[in-house]
Amino acid sequence: MAKEKIAYVCSNCGQEAAKWIGKCPNCGQWNTFSEIRIAAHSPAVSNRASRLQSTDSNLPQPISKVTTRDEPRIDLHDEELNRVLGGGLVPGSIVLLGGEPGIGKSTLVLQTILRMPERRILYVSGEESTPQLKMRADRIEKNISDETIVLSENSLERILHQIDLVQPQVVVIDSIQTIQTESIDSSPGSIVQVRECASALLRFAKTSSVPVLLIGHINKDGALAGPKILEHIVDTVLQFEGDQHYMYRILRSIKNRFGSTSELGIYEMQQNGLRPVSNPSELLLTRDHEGLSGIAISCAIEGVRPFLMETQALVSTAAYGTPQRSTTGFDQRRLNMLLAVLEKRVGFQLIQKDVFVNIAGGLRVTDLAMDLSIIAAVLSSNVDTPIEKEWCMAGEVGLSGEVRPVNRIEQRIAEAEKLGFTDMVLPKNNISGLDTSRFKIHLHPVRKVEEALRILFG
Ligand code: TYD
Ligand code: MG
Repeated sequence: MAKEKIAYVCSNCGQEAAKWIGKCPNCGQWNTFSEIRIAAHSPAVSNRASRLQSTDSNLPQPISKVTTRDEPRIDLHDEELNRVLGGGLVPGSIVLLGGEPGIGKSTLVLQTILRMPERRILYVSGEESTPQLKMRADRIEKNISDETIVLSENSLERILHQIDLVQPQVVVIDSIQTIQTESIDSSPGSIVQVRECASALLRFAKTSSVPVLLIGHINKDGALAGPKILEHIVDTVLQFEGDQHYMYRILRSIKNRFGSTSELGIYEMQQNGLRPVSNPSELLLTRDHEGLSGIAISCAIEGVRPFLMETQALVSTAAYGTPQRSTTGFDQRRLNMLLAVLEKRVGFQLIQKDVFVNIAGGLRVTDLAMDLSIIAAVLSSNVDTPIEKEWCMAGEVGLSGEVRPVNRIEQRIAEAEKLGFTDMVLPKNNISGLDTSRFKIHLHPVRKVEEALRILFG
């Protein structure tokens, strides 16, 4: 048995120390240090030794002389996933897919690999038995290829051994929190276990050029459980999110060494797996709100795609003392700011009113171009006057009530026109220099919130 080393590690951030300390110097949390034993042959220790013996490939060299292997990306046969990854899976990369339990991470990964029968893929599950995986696979796909190989295993050493035997072209680990290495005496899911297992898998990916997909759980605060360190180790972090009450699931890229991080993919959970949604506006618009007040359609952009979505507001007299302001899918502080603008610049009295704002479909949007539709929906509910069904809008609202320009206006206009909207309210500054004659949709450029409200409500 190799000699053991004792170390103390913060369970919150992964900071290491030689002796126990009460307060972590890195993250400032109290009482988070716990003792762990690391075997002397463990990667954490042996790394230091091997770093000293650099081989030829490890010498400093001019960047112009570095040769790159131009390996094509692996097509995952799923447009949404390919796009979020920046055009497919990069060979030798390590991707972390995070999400709350039950959101559909295992389903997404399993259905993707089942649809890639041409490649030998190893799916390692530390959570489910192989019969359970088979039952899930049967639900998703009828023709299952012999090249899709499953393994129910928790030990990192045995997983690496099996990878050696199977020689897969892609490896999936479901989930990183259930895998443990024997070199560390600590329970699976703990910070050191997660870090050591991820580093070992990273070394495997980089040396073999086989991409590794890690599934990771998210804890209650929405952070990836286990160390933040995991996010630093991997090349790409994807987050799968959605509301349990809605069937839509959103795949976001949070970090991507090989592509943009503003990408977004949308799926719908069905009986037989997740269906990619290529035209999200059709799902997000109900189009039967004729004559209803408190609804405004916004043309927002999330990632690179424009979406038309319904903003709903309800304004009612506050029944109990302090008025409530509540939002679903939109930043509440931003709503407070917009209400203050309405009050101060447009002269509407909302102080004694409860205001509820909801983005239909369970989507969470951050695009500032939503401002105008939030204000319009609030006002529409307040005065109980509906907005024309075929009208939509986009525009950021500033503190002095000015309507500020938004990005990619042409794309927004084109999308609204494609979906059959007849009129669009948009920032005046956006259309200077824009050839508007090619659009059939009526454009109503505005400078101030009042102007927009006058156009909408007469
Ligand atoms: P799962 O992939 O197990 O979630 P995670 O790995 O993120 O914990 O998905 C869980 C939910 O998805 C479960 O409640 C059942 C549902 N589901 C479907 O609705 N349709 C399907 O085809 C499958 C496989 C699962
Ligand atoms: Mg799972």
